[in-house]
Amino acid sequence: MTASYNPMDLSGRLMLVTGASAGIGRATAVMLSRLGARVILNGRDAERLAETAAQLVGDGHAVAPFDLSDLEAVPGWVKTLATDHGLIDGIAHCAGIQTLRPIRIFSTEFFDSVMRANLGSALALARGLRQKGCHAERAAMALISSTAATAASPGNVVYAASKGGIIAATKGLAVELLSDGIRVNCVVPSIVETELIERGKQKLTADQYEHLRRLQPLGFGHPDDIAHMLAYLLADTSRWMTGSIVTVDGGRTA
Ligand SMILES: NC(=O)c1ccc[n+]([C@@H]2O[C@H](COP(=O)([O-])OP(=O)(O)OC[C@H]3O[C@@H](n4cnc5c(N)ncnc54)[C@H](OP(=O)(O)O)[C@@H]3O)[C@@H](O)[C@H]2O)c1
Repeated sequence: MTASYNPMDLSGRLMLVTGASAGIGRATAVMLSRLGARVILNGRDAERLAETAAQLVGDGHAVAPFDLSDLEAVPGWVKTLATDHGLIDGIAHCAGIQTLRPIRIFSTEFFDSVMRANLGSALALARGLRQKGCHAERAAMALISSTAATAASPGNVVYAASKGGIIAATKGLAVELLSDGIRVNCVVPSIVETELIERGKQKLTADQYEHLRRLQPLGFGHPDDIAHMLAYLLADTSRWMTGSIVTVDGGRTA
């Protein structure tokens, strides 16, 4: 065994990272490139995707702006990516939206936008990846849920429901995609300091912010904390895992 043995080596692998224009997705894309993967970066904002691309290590990466809420178009888009860049070894699905809105102002428009972006996108990506000619012989999907799915806070019910759906979808997809050679697992983070949280913070008092910080005995997470786990779930390190729900939450649910 050489001193540089790395069980998470991703050399020669092609990974699609959604939500790569910010936060956890950006950190994951950089992490996967540092492990040797070629990475396709997805988000809607081409400028911010280019900023992520500038941080990647190695060659052969690509930028693929696309709105994942256009569920019907996702499978065809995945097919085009595979045709243009090669068989996909893994997807880190980090795209998502969180807007606080109490149930008294619930609307179908709001429901559709959150469910499409957070849950529908995962299912449409799975449909896309399983197509013939799109995935490598052994491939993996890593999804992101949230502790919001099981630990409620006011005004967050639609987001929480979408993230609870991700847990159910992880299990269902894992079983359904077994015969395609695709493993599906999911990470459950508590609060990670990203733009998503930064935007929420502006509406909080200092006391409310401190309360949020203390929910995690280990403090707020860093995007790399989630990126490390997503990389683990896409690498051969997790070859015996599918349908697993992995909590990475600074001790929040301990
Ligand atoms: N941060 C946390 O504390 C936390 C905790 C638990 C779970 N999560 C989950 O972790 C994931 C990443 O969160 P984050 O904090 O990194 O969020 P973020 O900083 O707000 O980034 C969200 C990403 O999703 C992309 N995105 C949103 N809607 C999209 C769409 N329709 N099509 C394509 N891309 C879309 C955005 O790209 P564009 O703007 O370029 O479209 C952006 O790159 C989300 O699923 C979130 O729910 C986060």
